[in-house]
Formats: sequence, C-alpha cells, structure tokens
Amino acid sequence: MFKHILAAIDGSEHSTKAAKVAIELARTYGSDLTLLHVTRKLDLPDQLKEYLKAEHLTREDLPALDEATKRIIEDVRIKAEAQGLKRVRTIFREGKPARSIVDYARSASIDAIVIGSRGLSDFESALLGSVSHKVASLAGCTVMIVK
Ligand SMILES: Nc1ncnc2c1ncn2[C@@H]1O[C@H](COP(=O)(O)OP(=O)(O)OP(=O)(O)O)[C@@H](O)[C@H]1O
Ligand SMILES: [Mg+2]
Repeated sequence: MFKHILAAIDGSEHSTKAAKVAIELARTYGSDLTLLHVTRKLDLPDQLKEYLKAEHLTREDLPALDEATKRIIEDVRIKAEAQGLKRVRTIFREGKPARSIVDYARSASIDAIVIGSRGLSDFESALLGSVSHKVASLAGCTVMIVK
C-alpha cells in the first residue's frame, strides 16, 4: 500500500515518536523509508531565535544544534535497520521546512508522509505546529500526523 514512506524529523521528541510510527508502517508494508530533515537558511526565524534563547544558546551554537539533530536522525536510521528495514535513506535539504517536505515528497514519489503534530517550538497552546498544518494541507499524498 505504501511503497515509499517519508518521516520528517526536526530533532524534537514529537518527530522521534513519528519516526517510530514510520518504522512500524514501513515494516508492515515492506516500504522504503526516507528520513528527511530540512535546515533553515541562517536568517534566523523567530521560532529558532526563541528556541536558542530558551536553551541559552547563541548563533555560534547553531552548528552544534545541527550536529545534535544529525545524531538523532542517525539513531533513527540505526533503529530502523536494526528492526529489519533494508532501504533506509537520510536526506538533508535547506529551505522552508513545509515547502521542502512537500516538494521532496512529490519528487521522490512518496506515498505517505509521517510527521509529528508539534515540533521544537514550545508554544503549547496550538494543537498543530505550522509545519504539520502546512504539510497536511499541501501534500499530494497521505499524511499521518502522530500525536
Ligand atoms: N525542519 C524540519 N525538518 C523536517 N521535519 C520537520 C521540520 N520542522 C518540523 N518538522 C516536522 O513537522 C512536525 C511538526 O513540527 P512543527 O514545526 O509544525 O511544530 P512546532 O515546532 O511545534 O511549531 P512551529 O514550528 O509552527 O512554531 C515535527 O514533529 C516534524 O515531524
Ligand atoms: Mg517547528
């Protein structure tokens, strides 16, 4: 049913949970699994500025932030392979997260995108983050939002 599943990972616990669901789905359907992380260009968006402030980080800490995300994604890949998935791919793209996720999904003929309901931002009141909201609206394929 799902030949190729995409898990969008921003390094948050929500996205790690989404990745676990993506792994289960890929195991069930014998799907290829791609892990996608979109890095933003360095004109810092408010959200990232606030994240840095909350974590007492500075712009100079950003490469460390990316390294941490890379490690999280690598852990997901190792877990997926340990669970028997043979075709796991990791992709890094630069740009706006929602647009990049939707465009990548289209270009790679993805059948299902799995994302978290929320991400890194600690803005508790909204049920859905803006990336999950936009991806669900714009994607041409099935989107699973993991809560
Ligand atoms: N840069 C990214 N690269 C890959 N996936 C992402 C990225 N940003 C968000 N996602 C995916 O979208 C999900 C929802 O995150 P989202 O960014 O929408 O929520 P938020 O950070 O809580 O809110 P917002 O970013 O709107 O302030 C994440 O769990 C992740 O699966
Ligand atoms: Mg976010």
